[in-house]
Amino acid sequence: LRIAVLFGGRSAEHDVSIMSATNVIGALEPSKYEAVPIFVTREGEWLRSRFENGVLARPESGTEIALVPGGRGRMIAIDGGRMSDAGKIDVLFPVLHGIFGEDGSVQGQADVARVPLVGCGILGSATALDKDIAKQLLRAAGLPVARAVTVHADRAPSFHTLESALGLPLFIKPACQGSSVGVSKVCSSQDFGPALAEAFKYDRKLLAEEFIRGREIECSVLEDTRGGLFVSRPGEIIPAESHGFYSYDAKYIDEHGAALKVPAELPADVEAKIRETAALAFRALGCDGMARVDFFLTEDMSFLINEVNTIPGFTDISMYSKAMAASGISYPAIVDRLVEHGLA
Ligand code: DAL
Ligand code: MG
Repeated sequence: LRIAVLFGGRSAEHDVSIMSATNVIGALEPSKYEAVPIFVTREGEWLRSRFENGVLARPESGTEIALVPGGRGRMIAIDGGRMSDAGKIDVLFPVLHGIFGEDGSVQGQADVARVPLVGCGILGSATALDKDIAKQLLRAAGLPVARAVTVHADRAPSFHTLESALGLPLFIKPACQGSSVGVSKVCSSQDFGPALAEAFKYDRKLLAEEFIRGREIECSVLEDTRGGLFVSRPGEIIPAESHGFYSYDAKYIDEHGAALKVPAELPADVEAKIRETAALAFRALGCDGMARVDFFLTEDMSFLINEVNTIPGFTDISMYSKAMAASGISYPAIVDRLVEHGLA
């Protein structure tokens, strides 16, 4: 099977996507799959790439690749304006995080091209990526989420309004971002202005969210070809005290920024409830294929859903594959199941 892996991308998680895709391609068994890596530049061009000695090439220019609408995987190569046939792919695997990749846009492109897609389709991708919409849907489904106020650029509430609604500290996050990019913890009125400015760099809509003192617990969800959901055992992320929260730096820059404990040590009934809730959240957002559902677990063993990621990280420190492994599903088996799901 020829499997096109899209990586890089236009979002602020460009570098994270490169780490994820390197691992995904490394896990493709050469006897079953021919990987066709396609580098998506920060400007959004699709460029032919190569995977050699464990490294994905990231050309600055070169052969552009386009998927033919209705072409069932047929691709065109464009070289200095000259077009030629670039063969056919059997399935498209976007390993792109954030906007223009995890938000339904590329998923729609797969539908237009009539090429099977790995992972979540348009609807679930779009709802899950927007933290504001996701929260509304989760709440409407009766699922627990943290209190939040949606902040639009044209009518941002005052610090005091948010402080009385949410208490302190509170978090300011761009609605459509991942990997904690643009997220700040606000402990006093002095932090508020810079936090808004930072988050507005990434989105016109923000979320002000109450601070939840709790453990970070995550579950991987994988849908089978008949629509049944497999939910992994939960894993726990233990961010280093020094980072204050599980920030971008704690995730990807500081190698001691966080520790993972998989499976998480939880009472059996709490684990069962979290796994059940992960499946309900997946359904509530209209997801299919895969997602990682992230929770906060408080001291009294109640929990909230933090967010749902439809293209979760596959980096060395990412939870999706580790939680699956703790549940008996290896990295290559995840890829096999995802591809089967896409082809079904
Ligand atoms: N957004 C990052 C990649 C994650 O959720 O793992
Ligand atoms: Mg995320």
